[in-house]
Amino acid sequence: MNNKLKALASFVEKKDTVLDTCTDHAYLAIYLKRNQLCREVYASDININALNIARKNIEVSHLKIDTYLSDGFKNIDNKKIDTVVIAGVGASTVLHIIDFAPSNIKKFIISSNNDLAKLRKELLKRKYFIKKEEVIYDAKKYYDIMLVTRNKVKENRLTLKYGKINNHEYYLFLQDKERKILAKIPLKNIFQRLRHMKNIYELNKIIKRISED
Ligand SMILES: C[S@@+](CC[C@H](N)C(=O)[O-])C[C@H]1O[C@@H](n2cnc3c(N)ncnc32)[C@H](O)[C@@H]1O
Repeated sequence: MNNKLKALASFVEKKDTVLDTCTDHAYLAIYLKRNQLCREVYASDININALNIARKNIEVSHLKIDTYLSDGFKNIDNKKIDTVVIAGVGASTVLHIIDFAPSNIKKFIISSNNDLAKLRKELLKRKYFIKKEEVIYDAKKYYDIMLVTRNKVKENRLTLKYGKINNHEYYLFLQDKERKILAKIPLKNIFQRLRHMKNIYELNKIIKRISED
């Protein structure tokens, strides 16, 4: 179990009946089941090879976890499931899965590999709200984890763009990335430079606010 999977598990509650879609080798589902961290857990994946490895891992762990071969929720008709984990895929796959989520799913634990600002905006457009967001650092990379619900939560331009993450180092990292991009943009590309200067300024505001908290 790596830090990212442990952090995903920390978003799960005892009362939840969880589907770990995009389960790959079922590490998260096995961890949840073995440690009895939720009411029940199911595992699914679109890829038969990944799912076969998941099934083997479940078998050697001497656990009982039902698995599904499915593109998101397409082949899943289990009304007991109320929580879904969608992790380790890109924003477009996250949205594709969410768009077919049945109404019994109340809680979404999401970790997208990319396009976080776009994902936040698209979630809001679909009336999904980010209740909590965290980043964790694992194997030299930051991973964003969102707890998404259907219950309204306030957003603004900055939280949609940068998240609601209370992590000083993460925003310093984003700011440093912006500075490096800016350094490579030719002086004549004024608008492109202004865009990144604005990002640096906005990130500075967030960093200051977190330091004062
Ligand atoms: C990198 S693994 C992620 C494993 C684990 N969830 C994690 O976060 O570390 C991505 C998995 O998502 C699966 N996947 C991609 N698109 C999917 C979809 N539409 N429905 C279900 N699984 C999908 C892939 O087959 C692959 O096994």
